[in-house]
Order: sequence, then C-alpha cells, then structure tokens
Amino acid sequence: MPSSNAGIPNPIPAPAAPDSHIDHATAIAYWSSTEPTVNGVLGGYPQVSRIDLQGSSNFFAKLRRSSKTHPPSAGKLRRAADCGAGIGRITTGFLSNVAETVDIIEPVKEFTDKLKAGEGGVGEIVNVGLEGWSPKGQYDLVWNQWCVGQLTDAQFVEYLRRVTAALSAGGWIVVKENLSNHHLGEDVFDELDSSVTRTDEKFRALFTKAGLKIVATELQRGMPKGLFEVRAYALQPV
Ligand SMILES: C[S@@+](CC[C@H](N)C(=O)[O-])C[C@H]1O[C@@H](n2cnc3c(N)ncnc32)[C@H](O)[C@@H]1O
Repeated sequence: MPSSNAGIPNPIPAPAAPDSHIDHATAIAYWSSTEPTVNGVLGGYPQVSRIDLQGSSNFFAKLRRSSKTHPPSAGKLRRAADCGAGIGRITTGFLSNVAETVDIIEPVKEFTDKLKAGEGGVGEIVNVGLEGWSPKGQYDLVWNQWCVGQLTDAQFVEYLRRVTAALSAGGWIVVKENLSNHHLGEDVFDELDSSVTRTDEKFRALFTKAGLKIVATELQRGMPKGLFEVRAYALQPV
C-alpha cells in the first residue's frame, strides 16, 4: 500500500563502519611507496623503535616467567612469526633473541628483500597479507604489531582463529597496536594507509569473538607526546 511520509523526517542512514573503508590495494600501494627503513615503517618516528623493542622484550620476559610450558629455563622458543613484519625490525631487534626461528609474514616484497631465510634466525619469508595467510605447522609465539588495522574486523577475527589453530600448547598470540583516542570512543579510519585504529574496547570484543582470552596486557611506556597510546595484549585460547 502506497503511503506518504509527509511530516516524517527521512531516516538518517547509519554511518559506514570505519573498517568498511579498508581497501587492501590502496594500503599496499601506500606501503610499497614507503622507503624500506625503520624511519619508513615507523612513519617518521624512528626514535620510537628502541623504546618499543625494550618494552616488548620486558613484556615477553614477564610472560615467560609466568609460563609453565615455556619458562625462561627452557631457553629459546622453537618457532615464532613476525606478522606484518615490514623490514623485520622486530625480528632483528627482539624476536630472534627469544626464538630459534622467526618466520616473516609481510605483503610488501620490497620490505623483505634484504632479509635472507636461514640467516639471523629468519625462517620462511611469506609475502602475503594476513587476511590471506594460513599458518603451516605450529608456532610458540605469533607477534602482530602495527599491522592488524589493515584488516577489517571480520578478517581480523578469522585470522585470529586460524592462528589460534596453529598455536603450540602454552603458546601466545601478541597484538601490539595503537589505540583510538576518538572523543566518542570510536575506531578511526586512516586514509593514508587505508587502515583503522581501534579502541581498547573493540580489541577486547574481537579477541572474545575469536575465542581468545587476554593473559597479560600492558601500555607501552615512554612514547613521545602527541602519538596514540600503544597497548600490547598477550592472548591464549579460552
Ligand atoms: C607500520 S608498519 C609496521 C611494520 C612492523 N610490524 C614494525 O613494527 O616494524 C605496517 C606494516 O603492515 C604491512 N601491511 C600492510 N597491509 C597488510 C596486511 N593486509 N597484512 C599484513 N601486513 C600488512 C605493511 O606493508 C607494513 O610493513
């Protein structure tokens, strides 16, 4: 039956979710045009690298001290993955100190060209986005830093589920990311690299959806003023 909507205001369409704007081709074009240096992958803040790596190392040492399966006395982990690895900054400065082998997962081949499988603790080098990565074998530690904003919420949850299935008993997924400081507590889309910056609440909801629990979490201290807060979450299956 035809009906008039005279006097009834047009409904305001719900704004599109920030992650619906993510476009992988735009992201890869941006990162491919970025210099393959610490300055390039850290967006012009290379001085953050040392603080970040020290914070990660301390955070991980605490995880191991509270672990029954991977206590510090067990020595290096067998296998880790550096996901969205860029030029391998985290592998070189931290992960290769704590794991025998570190696989590199990074979609931009130019970033990984200087890394050599079998050298400096580097294992396999896989040039693919995390949305398309299916881990093979088992990992004791899967480190994700400053890259999961490149995935939509749904892709991120599916990715976490695939990684969980590849985690050794007592192993960890670590997500270390910027947190949105939006005044209304919303995720924020960044056109520059076609990514989203999520709130702490959104991260926690997505971890729960993926069947993961937070076993430790910590804010990165010592970040320069004016930058987003950075939080590390260590996750294990519920
Ligand atoms: C800010 S850099 C961080 C690199 C590294 N994690 C670090 O902290 O040094 C973001 C990285 O995410 C990568 N990236 C872009 N799209 C991605 C995707 N779909 N999956 C995984 N990584 C992606 C970029 O190529 C880039 O290397």
